[in-house]
Order: sequence, then structure tokens, then C-alpha cells
Amino acid sequence: MSQVELCSASDIEEGSAQAFDINGKSILVCRSEDRFFAIENRCSHQESPLAGGRVRRGLIACPLHGVMFDLSTGEPRGNLTRVPLKTYTTVIGDGALFIEVD
Ligand code: FES
Repeated sequence: MSQVELCSASDIEEGSAQAFDINGKSILVCRSEDRFFAIENRCSHQESPLAGGRVRRGLIACPLHGVMFDLSTGEPRGNLTRVPLKTYTTVIGDGALFIEVD
């Protein structure tokens, strides 16, 4: 497990998300209720990117068909998919945002 620095924590505003390419994977970092989350940027329904989806109350909605994913656990809500997404631990240090990756 290693930490990768992504950006300044202040670069990601409340209710927004930003995608990062890390070791060949697209990971979406979201800020909701002043917490930072990192989740696989690929919906488990039809593999659409989650980037651009609405971030609210610890959830992100897929922009394509609206499946909501819990940003803490990656678990989907509803019936379109039951496959959870991978989530990653985020760490703040000296105002910078880091992600823990394998
Ligand atoms: S591709 Fe995400 S809900 Fe269908």
C-alpha cells in the first residue's frame, strides 16, 4: 500500500468531484459533507464514467441511468446493478489530498 498525492484539498469544492488517472485506473475523488472519498470511476451497470454525476450526502449518482453509489462503501442502491465499486482511503496532510493505492 502506498500513498499518492493528488492535489490540494481546497482544489475540490464541496459537492464536486475530480477524476485522476492513477496507475492506469481512473479514480474519482469526491467531496461531500466536508469529507473526501475516492471511488472507481466506472459504473458497475454499463461501465459509464461516474464523473459528472451529482455528489450529495455521501452518494454519487451515475450520470447515465442514475444509479446511486455510497461513496464510503461503493455499494449501489436500486435494482440496475448489485455490484459494488472499489473505494479507496483518502488522507489529508498539510493541506494536500492523498489516496492510498495497492
Ligand atoms: S451506466 Fe451507470 S446507471 Fe447505467
